[in-house]
Amino acid sequence: MTASMPGVEAVRALLHPAQLRETVSTSGGYLDVLAAGEAPAEPERHSFAYNAMHSQALATVYERAWRPLAFTLATGLTTSTERRNAVADLHLSGEQRVLDVACGPGNFTHYLSERLSGDGVAVGFDISKPMLRRAVADNSGARVGYVRGDAGRLPFADNTFDAVCCFGALYLMPDPFTALDEMVRVLAPGGRIAIMTSYQGDVSALRPAVRAGSGLIGLRVFGRDTIPDVFAGAGLTDVEQRLRRVVQYVNATKPQS
Ligand SMILES: C[S@@+](CC[C@H](N)C(=O)[O-])C[C@H]1O[C@@H](n2cnc3c(N)ncnc32)[C@H](O)[C@@H]1O
Repeated sequence: MTASMPGVEAVRALLHPAQLRETVSTSGGYLDVLAAGEAPAEPERHSFAYNAMHSQALATVYERAWRPLAFTLATGLTTSTERRNAVADLHLSGEQRVLDVACGPGNFTHYLSERLSGDGVAVGFDISKPMLRRAVADNSGARVGYVRGDAGRLPFADNTFDAVCCFGALYLMPDPFTALDEMVRVLAPGGRIAIMTSYQGDVSALRPAVRAGSGLIGLRVFGRDTIPDVFAGAGLTDVEQRLRRVVQYVNATKPQS
């Protein structure tokens, strides 16, 4: 794979100038801004969830088997419904620039790119090499490109994207609030943001079990108000939340300044 692959050059043009060094590797078919030894500090022990996200085995079965099963159980929604909802929440159309943070094997990135036209581009961003290898193999396209990096330090200038999403991943991150700040930073005024993450559930008697089970495998559980409060605190408007079993969908608009 080389830098001449569709999407790679379009995505390179979106990188913050400080990232435009020769050390950005494209050998995997994606731009790797962590290639120069800039990976975030590693904890001494990784959780089960962390190890799973960095395993070739999960990356291989994720889109077709693991995700439909696990997320339909968690949400009661099919993947098709989630995808259509994502397009609606992000107000996607035309020549927009879209950032899919923690894109995994690109299972949403490619779908979102098909709603774009002209110079529109969807950038899938993830930290896991196995996931990105699958993304390049299974979900490349004329308006898709992939970047490897850490969501806590997005390699894009302020106000770069018309839409930013992060599905099924905030609960895996050691500092999800820095990642949220970064997503808001790179979102352009008037742009849309959509998050899907964990929810402690409506049944208070079950919350200790939800938290204990999630904690065992290394997942954070968010309360009902946490993400809406972060969005409101960041000055976002039109904040809307949908609760589904142990999952929440939150979307909002970054106001014109
Ligand atoms: C369960 S997958 C979600 C994939 C896809 N967004 C979906 O909804 O099906 C979670 C992804 O989050 C990624 N991830 C976790 N921490 C990350 C970080 N700090 N920066 C970027 N990606 C991260 C993992 O590598 C993994 O691919």
